[in-house]
Amino acid sequence: MPQPYSLLFCHAAQVLTLAGGPPDKPLAGTDLADWRIIEHGYVACQGEAIAAVGPMSELDAGRIGPDTRIVDVSGRVLMPGLVECHTHLVFGGNRADEFQRKLQGESYLDILAAGGGILSTVRKTRAASDEELLQSALHHLEGFRRYGVTTLEAKSGYGLDAATELRLLQVAQEAGRRQPVRVVSTFLGAHVPGPEYKGRPADYLDMLLAEVLPELNPTEVPFVDIFCEEGAFSVDDSRRYLQRARELGFGLKIHAEQLHELGGCQMAAELGAISVDHCDYLSAEGAAQVAAAGQGRTVAVLLPLVPLYLRQEKYAPGRQFIEAGLPVALSTDFNPGSCPSKNLWLALQVACLKMGLTPREALAAVTLNAAWAIGQQANCGSLEPGKRADLLVLSVPDYRELPYWLGENPVAQVVIGGQLEE
Ligand code: NIG
Ligand code: FE
Repeated sequence: MPQPYSLLFCHAAQVLTLAGGPPDKPLAGTDLADWRIIEHGYVACQGEAIAAVGPMSELDAGRIGPDTRIVDVSGRVLMPGLVECHTHLVFGGNRADEFQRKLQGESYLDILAAGGGILSTVRKTRAASDEELLQSALHHLEGFRRYGVTTLEAKSGYGLDAATELRLLQVAQEAGRRQPVRVVSTFLGAHVPGPEYKGRPADYLDMLLAEVLPELNPTEVPFVDIFCEEGAFSVDDSRRYLQRARELGFGLKIHAEQLHELGGCQMAAELGAISVDHCDYLSAEGAAQVAAAGQGRTVAVLLPLVPLYLRQEKYAPGRQFIEAGLPVALSTDFNPGSCPSKNLWLALQVACLKMGLTPREALAAVTLNAAWAIGQQANCGSLEPGKRADLLVLSVPDYRELPYWLGENPVAQVVIGGQLEE
């Protein structure tokens, strides 16, 4: 006898399953919009996992027991929990002062070259205690959860010395243990050369390779990332560093083509990177090459709130990427400099407005493809039996309202691992 359901959501106006694509690759091309929506549906959970999803007409009443918690979600949309696949969660202080300078016309790279930007957050982060950093990370995770994020990637990268970088990774892991949102860690020690290595980026990378990477366990910190950009690391230095990280068993990520087309995305895809992030300056031809080099598995993570916040005209040509067959995901890039926003819905909306994504494509980009971008596709990103019961009840009856109510948070209820978070 199958066990009764523990939690049952019934009479949903729409269930956005995100199911129906190829099992072995992120969604690309027309598949990105071609996942299944069930009208008047249900989602049933058993313990921590999804047990069944379908139309109300197919609900097995025999699995409703006296202890089944039944939630009527008439007039509402059900969908998988959002997957936030690129954040810089742990940092000290903020950069409201620099925001004023940016509004007066100073550029992101000028501020960085003058010792501000990332380096000013490094000073504040080094000066903060573990407890201060943890409390700040927990505060931000709670904010993400309210927006419906149930899995989140968190990068280090504001320590820029061996001891502080290790501390930031530990803080992110501790934050993951203290609250329900699942945290996936990435090592971004190679954010920019540490202030002690000014003008010596290759020496700085050698220090990370010698002193930090050997201390990390890929089962706890599965990814290594690098910022490939003028003022950060060259394509050649990035290649050498990522190759070594791959030999040590880490998955690879890169921040590339954010402000210039240097070829970092292409290089990382050739090394089998799980994602290439930013891509605002990646051309349509470049995207086709990344799609081919990444064999359909490298996801382009687009961060539309960053050009918005940096007052930049150029946005990644997401529509062209999709037409070139490159899988895309969306993220906020939450960080204190280029995007202090946790509103992934706003990122989805700006992607529709400025990158040419359709609502269905954008929804896949914040769920299943975002899960692929952090290797979590077996656990989350779609509503399918056996996956973790991470789901959202939304206060709208139709998914087309999601990009429409600009800046609003549509989340009414969040379920993580079968637990309804009130
Ligand atoms: O992803 N581009 C590099 N790093 C971050 C910004 C970090 C900062 O400005 O503090 C990003 O945009
Ligand atoms: Fe980033």
